[in-house]
Amino acid sequence: MTNATHEAVMVDEVLENLVFKQNGKYVDCTFGAGGHSLEILNRINNKGYLTSIEKDESATKDLSAKFTKDSRFTLINDSFSNLRKFFEVEEVDGILIDLGISSTQLDDPLRGFSFQSNGPLDMRIDTATGQTAAEWINKASKKEIEDVLWILGQERASRRIASKICEFREKKFIETTKELSDLIISCVNKKTKKHPATNSFRAIRMFINNEIEELQKVLEAASYVLCCGGRLAVISFHSMEDRIVKRFFQGKDRIESKVEFEYMKDRFFKPTAEEISINPRSRSAILRVAEKIC
Ligand SMILES: C[S@@+](CC[C@H](N)C(=O)[O-])C[C@H]1O[C@@H](n2cnc3c(N)ncnc32)[C@H](O)[C@@H]1O
Repeated sequence: MTNATHEAVMVDEVLENLVFKQNGKYVDCTFGAGGHSLEILNRINNKGYLTSIEKDESATKDLSAKFTKDSRFTLINDSFSNLRKFFEVEEVDGILIDLGISSTQLDDPLRGFSFQSNGPLDMRIDTATGQTAAEWINKASKKEIEDVLWILGQERASRRIASKICEFREKKFIETTKELSDLIISCVNKKTKKHPATNSFRAIRMFINNEIEELQKVLEAASYVLCCGGRLAVISFHSMEDRIVKRFFQGKDRIESKVEFEYMKDRFFKPTAEEISINPRSRSAILRVAEKIC
């Protein structure tokens, strides 16, 4: 089932710049609630094909008939960093990566991603593997917590928050999003527009899901599986991710790929004021699209 609670971001900009061949082969690396995937299927013709990837198994279940009955579509439950397992070199015309998590995941208290509602402190995208945020935060060293909050969250109070966490967990295991959020609130200047736990929660989620390394690997993999003239579109929600994407397109900070990219006419796209008013969560999105040069 496509879940209507997630609003796909910058759909027109993605379609216009990514889907340049109606009979092309496309990959949506981040299926989520299927918003972008459905629009790509609507845009391609009966010779086109879409493969979508999603790490969160629950997002791959109970799909609507729009997907299950479409012979031009396959959904793979895996991590996008494994892209090369599924495609040959230079096989794909266009790849979309819409980073982060969906509103469906964020708004489900049982997933533990949000400080807005109370739930178990989990934060894993793939709930079958890896440590939960609670497991990590109750055993990590003070320095490790501080580094995660500072490096991935640019949280100015990282040192104070890390100390508070270590002090608290001597008395009690930190189990819930509310416990963590309250600890953070007690350390951070509350006079900001943003919720005081925003940066820390995002940083911990990025750490638990290894999001930076996943992004570096998928960019590299995409550069190989794209055909010449193929296009790569990436939507990020955070300056650190956007910097990685930008530098990758510039040929910098690569693992080993030497593939060259050239931006489409604009270097980046931002949501319009109208889109932000309809979908406030789109406000920090930035889309970059580039073409593989051979
Ligand atoms: C912003 S949402 C995508 C929303 C989607 N474009 C839509 O229109 O509904 C990001 C999705 O990517 C998934 N995801 C995050 N990291 C992933 C990874 N390493 N591999 C595959 N999927 C991932 C998340 O589980 C989430 O469903």
